[in-house]
Amino acid sequence: MSSTNRQVRLAARPSGLPKPADWDLVELPVPAPGPGECVVAISHISLDPAMRGWMNAGASYIDPVEIGDVMRAGAVGRVSASEHPGFDVGDRVYGNFGVQEHALTDGKGVHKIDPSLAAPPTYLGTLGMTGLTAYFGLLDVAKLQEGETVVVSGAAGAVGSAAGQIAKLKGARVIGIAGGEQKCRWLVEELGIDAAIDYKGEDVRRALREHAPKGVDVFFDNVGGEILDAVLTRLARGARIVICGAVSQYNATEAVRGPSNYLSLLVFRATMTGMVVFDYAARYPEAMAEIAGWMREGKIVSREHEVEGGVEAFHDALLKLFAGENTGKLVLRVGDGESS
Ligand SMILES: NC(=O)c1ccc[n+]([C@@H]2O[C@H](COP(=O)([O-])OP(=O)(O)OC[C@H]3O[C@@H](n4cnc5c(N)ncnc54)[C@H](OP(=O)(O)O)[C@@H]3O)[C@@H](O)[C@H]2O)c1
Repeated sequence: MSSTNRQVRLAARPSGLPKPADWDLVELPVPAPGPGECVVAISHISLDPAMRGWMNAGASYIDPVEIGDVMRAGAVGRVSASEHPGFDVGDRVYGNFGVQEHALTDGKGVHKIDPSLAAPPTYLGTLGMTGLTAYFGLLDVAKLQEGETVVVSGAAGAVGSAAGQIAKLKGARVIGIAGGEQKCRWLVEELGIDAAIDYKGEDVRRALREHAPKGVDVFFDNVGGEILDAVLTRLARGARIVICGAVSQYNATEAVRGPSNYLSLLVFRATMTGMVVFDYAARYPEAMAEIAGWMREGKIVSREHEVEGGVEAFHDALLKLFAGENTGKLVLRVGDGESS
């Protein structure tokens, strides 16, 4: 039974890729819950490219993490002490608990998870924020139709691997773009995606001509930059581009690269729409139930890429996202969720 809580706090706002000096590791006693509160022993922390944006000052879709604050992160764990009427000791929960080992919470935004349905880290991926992003991006924003041609960038990542599989089960022809032969093989052989383009080893425009001869109806973009520009040259009339993210630009030290081929939107009567999954919070239960059903039926698979090492491994683990070292949802294991 551990009596200390280690936390990772933001020490400085980075320029470019985060550095170890941008974080402070702080040790405090594990808090005791007051009335209406509970303490969660965290087992897994979600690693997200968006964390890089949250480290910057300035307005965005969510407030920045302030210097000295515990780094914001979704996490799963087990309630280890409770004075909260809605949570009992032993409950498995998801919440925005931050990069730390134990979180004190008033229960707002905390949801019980069912470990008999899927392992807790899956609730950070396919049954959590990244699966929901894929779901709403494709079905609500892009309004995907059966028989359409869909391209997904960042296709072997957490959002991308869910998006590719959901598009397949909705009857689309799906082309994934990912870095490296191994990821591309996984997409086609394990996930059943129709074709994969290795952007690190292939000419993306040429490969798109081959795999999408009639053009791209839906582009689910996770990476931006050159890949967005390449897909813009290959649109079908009425195409919908979902701007889910732009991971290729998050560590830019110069101006973010915009799409120079944007006039394709005019030529092909296409739309480009940004989305933020938080806007769909009221519909999460409905979407999670549907995704869980697909998982139970074996129609989609979830892969978590677990990094060991506890909270002190947070910095190195985060950088894996920007080096493309993860396949599926990257999570940091910080404990077994059993200690209090
Ligand atoms: N809008 C929303 O509400 C929302 C919610 C969640 C996530 N997102 C966004 O969705 C995207 C994917 O997030 P995720 O959590 O699923 O991460 P992820 O795709 O699991 O991990 C990031 C991946 O990005 C790729 N990458 C990194 N640098 C790149 C570069 N310079 N060019 C091309 N690809 C690069 C790497 O794959 P390769 O090996 O293939 O390069 C890496 O594995 C991110 O842009 C994220 O911000 C948006």
